[in-house]
Parts: sequence; C-alpha cells; structure tokens
Amino acid sequence: MTTTNDILVIEDDEIMREALAEWLEAAGYVVRKAADGSAGLAAVRSAAPALVVTDIHMPGTSGAVVIAELQRHHPDIPVIAISGLFQFGRGLDADSAVALGAARALAKPFTRRELLQAVTVADLAARKRAEYLTRQVFESASDGVAVIGRDYRYQRVNPVYERNWGMPAERIVGMHVADLSGTDVFERTLKPNLDRCLAGEHVTFAEWFTTELGRFYLSVSYSPLRLDSERLEAVLVISRDLTEHVLASEALREAQAALARVNRVTTLGVLAASIAHEVNQPLTAMVASAGSCARWLAARPPELEKAQRSLERIARDGKRASEVIDRIRALVMRQPPRRDLVDVKETILDVIALTRDQMRRNDIALEKTLAEGLPPVWGDRVQLQQVVLNLIVNAVEAMSASGDRPRQLVIGASEAEGGVCIEVRDSGPGIAPEIADKLFEPFCTSKPQGIGMGLSISRSIVEAHGGRLWAASNPPHGALFQLSLPTGEREP
Ligand SMILES: Nc1ncnc2c1ncn2[C@@H]1O[C@H](COP(=O)(O)OP(=O)(O)OP(=O)(O)O)[C@@H](O)[C@H]1O
Ligand SMILES: [Mg+2]
Repeated sequence: MTTTNDILVIEDDEIMREALAEWLEAAGYVVRKAADGSAGLAAVRSAAPALVVTDIHMPGTSGAVVIAELQRHHPDIPVIAISGLFQFGRGLDADSAVALGAARALAKPFTRRELLQAVTVADLAARKRAEYLTRQVFESASDGVAVIGRDYRYQRVNPVYERNWGMPAERIVGMHVADLSGTDVFERTLKPNLDRCLAGEHVTFAEWFTTELGRFYLSVSYSPLRLDSERLEAVLVISRDLTEHVLASEALREAQAALARVNRVTTLGVLAASIAHEVNQPLTAMVASAGSCARWLAARPPELEKAQRSLERIARDGKRASEVIDRIRALVMRQPPRRDLVDVKETILDVIALTRDQMRRNDIALEKTLAEGLPPVWGDRVQLQQVVLNLIVNAVEAMSASGDRPRQLVIGASEAEGGVCIEVRDSGPGIAPEIADKLFEPFCTSKPQGIGMGLSISRSIVEAHGGRLWAASNPPHGALFQLSLPTGEREP
C-alpha cells in the first residue's frame, strides 16, 4: 500500500454513485467510479485502489462477487459493502458481507460521517495489517536487515543485524555507517556501493569486517528504497554472515594443499626408496661380473672370451637397471603399465636365472611347478619380473635367516579363473604375526638391513595390472605369497 487516498466506488445507482463520490472527494480522496461489478473488477485490475466501496445489489456482477474476487486476488484491499436491503433480510445480509471479506458493511441510508468513519476504520485496519506483516518480515528475517538513509545513517535495523554487530538497535539507529564499520571499510567499500545504490542500482558484494566481536565475512546486498514518493530515499541492506562457511572452505583448501605437499614428499620418498630397492639386484650383479671380468683378464694367458662374456653381462644388467628405474618412476607417478603380451612362464624363468647364484649360495632347493600352455597376460614384462624377483628374494632371505630346517622354495604358475595365478612358497619361519597386517605398507620391514619396499612395490605393480597380491602361511612352516593376474581380451 503506497497511497491511501485512491478509492473505487462501485454503485449501479447513478445518483447514489455521484453522491458517494462527492462525499469522498470533499474529504480529500481521489475517487474512481464503476457502474457495476464487472466494470469495478476491471478497474481494480488496471490499477489497484487503496480501498473499494461497493454496492451489494447490482444487476449483472453483484457486490458479493466483487468482495469474493477481491478477497481471492487482492486480500490487502479493504472493501466497504453498502446495501439498502441489509435491514430487510433480503439477499446478502451485513454479517454475510463481512464473512465474505468486507471490512465493514453499511446499511443505506447512512450519513456522510458514517461513510467517512467506515473508510477510515477500514483503511486503518488494512494499514495495520500491512505494517504488521512488514514488521514480522523485518524482525524474523534470518539475515541482517537494515535501512540506511541518504545521510549514511541507520534508520532501522533488525535483531540479526544487532547480533551481527553486537550492538542494540537503539545505539545503531542514527549512527553513521562509518562509525559501525570503521572508516577504512566505509571509504573503500561501503560508501562507493551505497552511492551506486543511491543512484538507483542494485548492488551486491562480500567483505571481511572487523568488530569488537572479531572478524566476520558478510555477503551484503543494497537495494534502492523509495518510501513514499518517487524520490530514492534510502537503501535497504540485507547482509548474511558467511564467516563459518568461508573459514570452513579455507580450512579445506589449506588441508588439501597440505595433503598435496605431503603426497609430493611421500611420492619422492617412495620413489627414491623404490629405486634404491629395485636397482640393488642388478648393481650387485654388475659388481660381481666386473670382478670376474678382471680375473679373466689377469689370468695368464688372459681368458679373453670369458672376459668378453662378463662384459656382456655387465652391459645387460646395466640396461636392466635403467629399465627398472623407468618402470619404477612410471609406477610411483601412477602411470598405467605398458601393455604387451607377456608369457608368464618365461618371465618366471628369467627371474629364476637372475637369482640362481643367490639360491645356490644359500643352499636352497628349488621346485618349479609351472603349468604348460598358460595364456599370456597383458602387461609390463619388466615390472612383472620385479614382482617375482621381490617374492623370491624375500623367500630366500627368510629361509637363510632360519636354522637348519631344509630350505625349500616352490615357484608355481597355473591357470586360474579369468587369469593366471603365480605362487612363491618357502619353508622359512613364516610371517611374523606383529607385522602381518601391514606387510604391504611402504617401509614395513623386520630386517635390520631392509628398506621395507619390496612387497609395497610388488602390490602396486600387480594392482596396476588389475590383479591381486596376498600372503598366507605355508603349513607346517613358511610363508606363501600368491598373485593373480587377469588374462582376457583387454587390448594393449
Ligand atoms: N617369505 C617371507 N617369510 C617371512 N616373512 C616375510 C616373507 N616375505 C616378506 N616377509 C615379511 O614382510 C616384510 C616386508 O617385506 P618387504 O619385501 O616389503 O621388505 P623387506 O624385505 O623387509 O625389505 P626390502 O625393502 O629390502 O625388500 C619383511 O621384512 C618380512 O618381515
Ligand atoms: Mg624384500
């Protein structure tokens, strides 16, 4: 309700209509007139009046219909029903008119005073209702709401606004915005935005504010307010406290950054440890070959052919070391493994060849149960060799450390459902119970010289190939490691 002096009079009797209009105009109201209910409703649709005075008994659309329609579409427009028949008990009576939604019912004839009084009372009631509603919205809004005048002073604030700034409304109202926010924020952010709004723009922004209660982050919107005239008189402020939200997302961002840092460091650590672990074997082999090469050359006469073979072995192991480093780097950086068709049996035999010396030195009897005609698996041959090598070296180390029980190593490969199963079993002491559940974690070792990387690398490789690696015991003594690798139609 912006203007209260615009009244629509709906009355079919021309003399009555003119008389009513005259009375109301004389009292300072602006009056529009309609001669029946449908013309009246059309007038309401083209511009809503502040109040409607309607006759009840009219040919065509009756006053009862007008009241019901207004009640449905414009419940905020008060209606005064007038009728010459209320007191005769014919048609709609006064109580029914009120029940339909009329603010007042006046029986004809009535005096000018009675009409003006009815208009005032109905209008006041409507204003009160509208004001009550506005106040309710203002008071119970869950955001901070305030009205700021052209002089940058607060005119009104709601309870949330009081809470946000930790100050009662009595103190804030009349205060200059700069006194509440601090001159800095006012000059830098608030004033420019308020000025834009006072020029008619709708403005939104978000900003950190510091008060005695601490720092908080507000999302603010400024809307131009025209109170009574067309002139822009004030700014409606709606502010929402997003401090917790912002702090939570900052904390999340920091946690993510910290995690990324940890991951990078861990990745580098794992990479270094993995390379150190995997390169050890070819390096040891190269040193041994270099030693024999020197011996063949020192022999009288020098055994040139054998020296040459030693050199070839050195070259081969050097090449292998560099391949291993490449694969480890790819693995740690989580690149997918190469996809070649790998013959499992050949791969295992290669590794056995690499470890034959070590087995002989440690008195280990090797049994091979390698099934014929195994389907090839898609994968990286060098990486799969590393897995088998790590399992064999662990088994050899476990048995070498244990007493004089027969040292028996069984390496098997067989076809399993959807793939190939490889197993390495030994007759050593078995897996120590205290580390059984973290065996495959990096740096988990029970050995004085161990790095604890072998099983962790092996599991990463097997899983990158879509397979599984697990440990079990090998009764009565020893450990059993098994891995499955999928075969099937996967293309490289
Ligand atoms: N065949 C086995 N028998 C008994 N325990 C084993 C066997 N294989 C592995 N383990 C246990 O698992 C642990 C982890 O093995 P892993 O290969 O990951 O590291 P490591 O052998 O200790 O050190 P490295 O990094 O030098 O290989 C070993 O320290 C050992 O306690
Ligand atoms: Mg190991």
